[in-house]
Amino acid sequence: MRSITGVSMMSSALVVLLISAFHVNGAVLSDLKAVAAFRDGINGGGITTAWTGDEFCIWPGIVCDPNTLRVTDIVLRADDPASSSLENQKFDLLSGDRTRLFSDSLCLLDQLTTLIVTDYTSISGQIPACITSITGLRILDLSGNRITGEIPADIGNLSELIVLNLADNQISGSIPPSIVNLRSLRILDISNNQISGEVPSDIGNLEMLSRAILGGNQLTGSIPSSISSLSRIADLDLSTNQISGSIPESIGSMPVLSALNLYCNQLSGEIPASLFSNRGLSHLNLSRNSLEGKLPDSFSSESYFTVLDLSYNKLIGEVPKSMENVKYMGALDLSNNNFEA
Ligand SMILES: *[C@@H]1O[C@H](CO)[C@@H](O)[C@H](O)[C@H]1NC(C)=O
Ligand SMILES: *[C@@H]1O[C@H](CO)[C@@H](O)[C@H](O)[C@H]1NC(C)=O
Repeated sequence: MRSITGVSMMSSALVVLLISAFHVNGAVLSDLKAVAAFRDGINGGGITTAWTGDEFCIWPGIVCDPNTLRVTDIVLRADDPASSSLENQKFDLLSGDRTRLFSDSLCLLDQLTTLIVTDYTSISGQIPACITSITGLRILDLSGNRITGEIPADIGNLSELIVLNLADNQISGSIPPSIVNLRSLRILDISNNQISGEVPSDIGNLEMLSRAILGGNQLTGSIPSSISSLSRIADLDLSTNQISGSIPESIGSMPVLSALNLYCNQLSGEIPASLFSNRGLSHLNLSRNSLEGKLPDSFSSESYFTVLDLSYNKLIGEVPKSMENVKYMGALDLSNNNFEA
């Protein structure tokens, strides 16, 4: 009797063991399938030779959870000399079906928290919409590739996302309204793409944001006043777009703003006095707009500008006296306006 119980206990323990091993292997196998599809999509360059065998957790650029052996991080920077085993990524443009690179199988990596694939000038194709189902994703950096298509509409589902960097690609379409749901987002960089439409009026909801780099696109409309409620923003760049209207006075009250780049737009109206009196703002480039009127006499003795570029506008009047009393003035450019001599 005792021995029978022992045997059945042993066999049920074995069954549990087998089930959990099978479970782990199922997920691990789907991760293998996903990273292999990713490698085969590249179909050339260093990855093909470095990513061989089945032990993908030791492949360069891949990090797995040591317990579950699931992929948590993929970090591939083509321009990083440190990943020398993966150099020579700028492979023959004609080889391989590169649009498969970010195929839907990537989304099998449901434990992924970091996806950094940057500066692969031969990576093209779209960001798969299913990427927004990897809800644990915290860092998504696909900058410097040749990605086309639009930002996935459900990007706002990635509630853990801290970094969204899609700069220097060929992404078009507008900024998805759901983006304002990214309540953990600290860095948003979509610069140098072909993104059109307006900056979402409720962008002020992104309360953790410290850098918003949207320059070099085809954005239209005006600067939403809600942007001033982003109290952690240090770096705001809307340069080289087609943004019109006036600069909201409240921007000058943003508490930690240090760099504001609005150059090469169609901004009109007067320069708000709050911009010159803001003590943290040290880099202000408003060049090449249609700003008009007199300069506000609102510089403070604490004002510290490394860059103050107001060139190529329609400014008139005199240069304000308070500018003489600033703590520091580095590169100052007031040229190509209608100031009195
Ligand atoms: C995003 O979230 C919405 C609402 O929960 C859901 O209906 C949608 O399917 C999600 N999208 C993806 C791609 O998971
Ligand atoms: C301001 O931006 C313009 C346009 O890109 C650039 O040419 C200029 O050098 C910038 N000004 C300063 C002082 O950096």
